[in-house]
Amino acid sequence: MGRLKAAAVLAVLAALPASAKTDFDQGVRADAAAASARDAARTMASPAPAAAAPGARVWVSFSRADLASRKAAGFPLSRPVLSDSASAVFEVPAGELPTLSRFMHERFKRCGGFFALRTRASAERSLRPVAARAAVSYTLDQQAVVRPLLARVSEPDLLATIRTLSAYHDRYYTHDSGVKSAEWIAARWKALAAKIPGASVSLYRHQGWAQPSVILTIPGTDLADQIVVLGGHLDSINIYDGRGAPAPGADDNASGIAVLTEAIRVLADGGYRPRRTVQFMGYAAEEVGLRGSQDIADEYANEGKKVVGVIQYDMSNFPGSGPGMFLLTDNVDLSLSAFTGKLIDAYAGVPRGTTECGYACSDHASWTRAGYPSAMAFEATLDTMNENLHTDHDTLANGGGDASHSVPFAKLAVAFAVELAKTAPSAAVAVRP
Ligand code: BES
Ligand code: ZN
Repeated sequence: MGRLKAAAVLAVLAALPASAKTDFDQGVRADAAAASARDAARTMASPAPAAAAPGARVWVSFSRADLASRKAAGFPLSRPVLSDSASAVFEVPAGELPTLSRFMHERFKRCGGFFALRTRASAERSLRPVAARAAVSYTLDQQAVVRPLLARVSEPDLLATIRTLSAYHDRYYTHDSGVKSAEWIAARWKALAAKIPGASVSLYRHQGWAQPSVILTIPGTDLADQIVVLGGHLDSINIYDGRGAPAPGADDNASGIAVLTEAIRVLADGGYRPRRTVQFMGYAAEEVGLRGSQDIADEYANEGKKVVGVIQYDMSNFPGSGPGMFLLTDNVDLSLSAFTGKLIDAYAGVPRGTTECGYACSDHASWTRAGYPSAMAFEATLDTMNENLHTDHDTLANGGGDASHSVPFAKLAVAFAVELAKTAPSAAVAVRP
C-alpha cells in the first residue's frame, strides 16, 4: 500500500441500516434491474494519477455506508480527519491517490469509489452543504414550447459530434489533445450561441492543469439570478494502457457532450428564451476525480449562486438494457430525480428505470456535495453498461455505430432546460415552429 498505513478501519465507521430501496414518486416503471446492479462489480484499473506537486495533500471522502458495507479489514487509511453522519474524510498525500485507487479496485472491485477534494475547506463544505437554493417547485407546464422543439432533435447531429470528439487521440486533462478538444467544443457552442441574443461561451480555467471546462450561458429574463445547469464531462482516459494510449471515449463521454450540443442547437434554432439563466457545462478532468466540476460547483456555492437544478449526462449511447433511460439514485436529489422521471414520461417517449453507482461516479456528485439538487440520466443499468469505457475500444463502432440511443437523452435535455427555466413571456410566441 505504499506509504498508506495498513491499519484496520475505525470502529467509528459503524454500519448504517441498509438504505431503503429508492422509490421515486409517481412510480418507476423498469426498476427491477437496479437491485442486481447494486452488487455488480466492474473490472477497472485505477485512474491515472492527478499531477500533484510534491508534498501536496488531498482530502478523500468516503460514504460511511460505503465503508461499513464492505469488509473493513485492510482498509488502508487510519483515522478520518473530518466526519459527519454520512461521510468520513481522510487526509492523504496526493501522490498516494493512485495507490488508494488501485486498492479500492482490487479489494472492492471499485473504480474510484471515493471523492478527492483539493482543500480542507472543500472537505468541510462537503460535510455541511450550505449552497443557496432558490425556493422553486418543479412544475410541468411548458408543453406548448417543448413539443415543437423536440421535433428538431436530430440523430445525425448527435452522431456528428460523437464522431468528431472520438476522433481525437484522447481528451486527457493534461494533454494537448485534451485542450484542443475542449476548444473545439467551445467553438461549436459559440457558433450555436451566436443565434441566441445575449448568450455567450467561456473557457473556465482550472488551477493545476491545462484543460479548461466550457460554459455556455443563456441569460434569463426576470429570474436571471436563478440558474439551471446541464452538464457532462469533456475529458477521456485510457486507464489500462498508459498515458500514450488512445482514449476515444465515444460513449464516455463524447455522447454526453453530443447530447448537450444537440440541446443547445435545438434551443438556438427554435428561438427559445428562458426566464431563468440556463448554463451548459462541459467539465474538464472528471476522470481524475471529478475535479473540473468540483471547482465550478464549489465556486458557485462560495459565491452564493442559486442553482435550481442540475442534470448530468455521462454515457448515453450504449443500449445495454434496451431502449430507455436510467436515473441514478445515489448522490442525487431524489425530488429533482422524480421530476426528471416525469419529464422522461412526458417528453422522451421511452421507458425508464433506476440504477445506482454506489459511489461518486460522475459530476452530479460535485453539485450534490456543494449542496445543490442534481440528477443524472444514464444509458443502462450499471451491470449492463458499456464495458469498453476507459479503453481504446470505446469507439462509435463498438457502441452500435449510430446515435439513436442518445436521441431521448437530448429530448430530455431540451425538456429539462425549458421546464426548469420556463419561457420568457415575450419569447413564447418567438419559438419557431
Ligand atoms: N462514466 C464513468 C463512470 C460511470 C459509470 C458513470 C457508471 C456513471 C455510471 C465516469 O467517467 C468515471 O469513470 N468516473 C470515475 C470517477 C472517479 C474518478 C471519481 C470512476 O468511476 O472511476
Ligand atoms: Zn464518464
